[in-house]
Amino acid sequence: MSGVMYVLTEQLQAWSAGLTCVTAVIVTGAALVLTWGGWASGRSVDVPGPPWLLGFGPLMSFARFIWMGVPVAAAHYGARYGDFVRVWIAGERTYVITRPSAAWHVLKSNNYCRRFGSRTGLSTIGMYQNGIIWNGDDGWRVLRGFFQKALNADTLNRATSAAVDATYRQMGNIAVLQQKTADGKIEALDFLRRITLEVTNNLTLGVHIADPDDLVERIVRYFKAWEFFLLRPPIMYLMTPKLYWKHCQAVNDLNDAIAELLTNKRQELKTVPPSDKPDFATCLLQAEERGEVSPAHVQQCVLEMLLAGTDTSSVSMYYLLVSVAENPQVELKVLEEMRDILGERDPTKADLPQLVYLEQVIKEAMRIKPVGPVIMRQAKEDDRIDGIETPAGTNIILNLADMHRRQDNFPAPDDFNPQHFDNKDFKGEYVPFGTGPKGCIGQFLAMIEMKAIMCTLLRKYHLRAIPGESLEGIETHWDIAQQPVNASYMYFEERN
Ligand code: HEM
Repeated sequence: MSGVMYVLTEQLQAWSAGLTCVTAVIVTGAALVLTWGGWASGRSVDVPGPPWLLGFGPLMSFARFIWMGVPVAAAHYGARYGDFVRVWIAGERTYVITRPSAAWHVLKSNNYCRRFGSRTGLSTIGMYQNGIIWNGDDGWRVLRGFFQKALNADTLNRATSAAVDATYRQMGNIAVLQQKTADGKIEALDFLRRITLEVTNNLTLGVHIADPDDLVERIVRYFKAWEFFLLRPPIMYLMTPKLYWKHCQAVNDLNDAIAELLTNKRQELKTVPPSDKPDFATCLLQAEERGEVSPAHVQQCVLEMLLAGTDTSSVSMYYLLVSVAENPQVELKVLEEMRDILGERDPTKADLPQLVYLEQVIKEAMRIKPVGPVIMRQAKEDDRIDGIETPAGTNIILNLADMHRRQDNFPAPDDFNPQHFDNKDFKGEYVPFGTGPKGCIGQFLAMIEMKAIMCTLLRKYHLRAIPGESLEGIETHWDIAQQPVNASYMYFEERN
């Protein structure tokens, strides 16, 4: 026995020595590459930022972005060096911007319509030169046209009733959801994800989703894979092989589900007469048949519509519910506004613009907790931002989360105060949906959904956060999206 243990121990020691050597080679190689990269791209740039330190600056800066996540690393450098900072990512010159005027310039310009990331990583998740969100190829403009058409005024006209109906349907399950926990709380984020999935599907795909919970779970896992692959250099996959395979599996799982939905949709299109108002999926499939769009684009665009349409809205909505639960005087004012405008009715499309206070509450919740805390872009051609030289290829990180807390724009920026949005017309200071040619396509739908869901829910339920939970206190995972770390429990108490 002891002989076997001896051999095993020897073997383990050999493996760990081997691993150490491999790690040393990887780190040295990375240092060399980044040193060169840092030298070539921005060592001498006259913008505040961490020192070059014989190439360790670029290495440390890249490592920080990978280990902390982009928003936390961006906040770190912003706090240290100011609102326009030069760092390095993968050896490339990168500006971290928290200055509203500079952010506005980037967002409004056609020069920054690309987003940066690892080419291999993006290929693994299917986003490299594919789909809309991270597609750096100029073809994204054509694909964006499909999204714009899908979310046109006609769709938005139907969005209010779609959101109200979906909320009622899920409210019908509340008693069942309450029974899942000992004290009657429910997992609010899952509840909201089911609503937003139904609305997005109803308005843009029109397919039968056999198991919505399963699809929601696949979307959530794909999101995590996206975060894993976005910046990591491929050599790092070797260091965490299990995680690598887990995320690959998540990508495959969501793609399988989308492929199945599309197969059903193709079948359906063969049997039903063509509509004069075809939905998003139909338009894409028809374009595919005409040879205008590749099957890979169709698959990825449908995936990204579900991804963007389901998760961002539901997470924002969850933060909104917590903010209302935490502030009884806000809940009261929202209820008063609802009573004045809606009486006992469900909201209609015409009512929503009149719910001015509710809109301020939504905006304030998104200010404090923007679901997309950063926007990542890349300069296509040489430019100057606020007079600072920005050569082609420069990466840009707009730190929305910190921009939303600038004291010069929001007095008492850490307080939840909907009056921050009294008669204010913000530019770069407040951009939770981004703006300009690559801005969020779903922002109008998202606002309609959030108002309609809120009215329907609040009329019937008083929202109560679990003890000790607050908007500021929700523990979040900071990455390309700011998501709650733990299950998002809340109490929905039926009103008399
Ligand atoms: C509260 C909910 C939402 C928030 C906070 C949000 C936020 C964002 C942000 C920050 C961006 C990047 C914008 C930029 O780079 O300038 C974005 C892009 C995008 N969003 Fe949203 N979004 C929301 C809801 C939606 C919905 C409901 C949909 C679709 C149904 C959607 C579809 C998209 C798409 C397709 C893009 C990529 C556009 C492009 O790269 O050309 N979003 N969103």
